[in-house]
Amino acid sequence: MTHDAWTRVIRNATVATCVAGGPRYGLIERGAVAVAGGRIAWVGPDTELPAQSDRVAVDDASGALLTPALIDCHTHLVWAGSRHREFEQRLEGATYETIARTGGGILSTVAATRAATEDTLLELACRRARKLLAEGVTCIEIKSGYGLDLKTELKMLRIARRVGEVLPVTVRTTLLAAHAVPPEFENRADDYVAHVCDVILPAAAAEGLADAVDAFCEDIGFTPAQVERLFKAAREFGLSVKLHAEQLSNQHGAALAARHRALSADHLEHLDEDGARAMAAAGTVAVLLPGAFYFLRETRLPPVGLLRQHDVPIAVASDLNPGSAPLASLLLNMNMACTLFRLTPEEALAGATRNAARALGLAAERGTIETGKVADLVLWNVQHPAQLSAQYGLASPRLLLRDGAPQGTTGQ
Ligand code: NIG
Ligand code: FE
Repeated sequence: MTHDAWTRVIRNATVATCVAGGPRYGLIERGAVAVAGGRIAWVGPDTELPAQSDRVAVDDASGALLTPALIDCHTHLVWAGSRHREFEQRLEGATYETIARTGGGILSTVAATRAATEDTLLELACRRARKLLAEGVTCIEIKSGYGLDLKTELKMLRIARRVGEVLPVTVRTTLLAAHAVPPEFENRADDYVAHVCDVILPAAAAEGLADAVDAFCEDIGFTPAQVERLFKAAREFGLSVKLHAEQLSNQHGAALAARHRALSADHLEHLDEDGARAMAAAGTVAVLLPGAFYFLRETRLPPVGLLRQHDVPIAVASDLNPGSAPLASLLLNMNMACTLFRLTPEEALAGATRNAARALGLAAERGTIETGKVADLVLWNVQHPAQLSAQYGLASPRLLLRDGAPQGTTGQ
C-alpha cells in the first residue's frame, strides 16, 4: 500500500502528542508522523508506519523530540514606547498599582501607541513575534488595549492581523478596549464602557478585526458590572469572551467569565474555590501567566491545587507586554510555570499546546498531534519533553513545520 498523498514523514521520533488521557505527554517512544499537505495524516509507533511512496520526504529524527508547535494564547505584543523607567521606580519602592494610579503604567503606553505610525508599530510587533516564532511558536493571540479610542484600537487590531500576514504565524485577535480608562473619560468609567459597547466593539466587529473580547477586571481596571455589560455586547456580535481576572485582587471575575462561557480567565492568582468550580463547569481555561507574577514580584500563587482538583484545563502564556511582562519567551514562561507555580513539565507543555489551543477556541484544529489536525510540528534538539521546561535557553527547534511545510529555524 502506498500513500501518494503524503508529503512528508518524520520517523524514529520521541513523539509527545500532548493528547490527554493516555500516557504522560501522550508519548509514543519510537514514533512516526505522516503529513499530507497541511494536515497530520498518520501518527503511531514507527514499526506500524505504512509503506510510503519514494516521492515522500522522510526525516529520520534519530530519537529527537517531536511536539505540536507551541501556541502563545495571551500576548499584548503591539505597543510603542518603553516602560524601563517604571522598572527602576518599582526597584526604588513604587508599586505597579501606584504607578498606574498616577498616570503611568498602561496609560503611558497608550500615549506612545497613539502617537506611533502603523509602520513603526508593525515593525516593533513583528520583532517581538519573531522571538516567539524562533522558539517553535506558530500561533499567537494578540490583544489591543493600548489605544483606548476608536482609531487606535482598530489600528492595533489591524496591525495584529498584519503580523499574521507578514510572518509565518496564525494570529487570533482580541479587543481589549476595556484595559484602562483613557484620559478623555477620566473618572467616567461607565461612560467609557458605554463607548466601548456602542462604538468601538461594533466597529471592530463590522471590520472583522476581533476574534474575541477581553477586559481587565480589577480595582485599577473595570468592575464586574462593567465587564458584564461588555460581555453582553460581545455576545450580540457573536464574539467569544475572555477576562483578565483575579490578578491583583479577588473580584470574582472568573465566575463572571464562566457564566458567560468565556474561553479563558487569565492570571487568577486570587481565584477562590467557587471561581474554580464555575470555570470547570463552563469549560473555561485557566491561563496562567508566570512572567507577570515574576516581573511584578507577586507573592500570592495561583491556586493550582484547586484547578487540578476541579479539572480546570490549565494553559501557560507569556502575557508579553511592556509593563508587567516584557519577556519575549514562551519557553521561559513554561520554565517559570514549573519553578514558581509548581506545574509539572507535562502540565506546562499541555499548557502551551493543547490547552492554549482551547483557550483560543482552536482545539479542534490545533494543540495536539492527531490525525486531521493542522500539521504545525516542532522537531527539537532535545530528546525528552521535560527538557523544554527544565532547561531554559537550551532547547530549540531543529525542524519546524507550519501547515506541513518546513520553515527556517535558527539551528541546533
Ligand atoms: O496582562 N493586567 C493588565 N494588563 C497587562 C499589563 C499591561 C501593562 O502593564 O501594560 C497584563 O499584565
Ligand atoms: Fe495580559
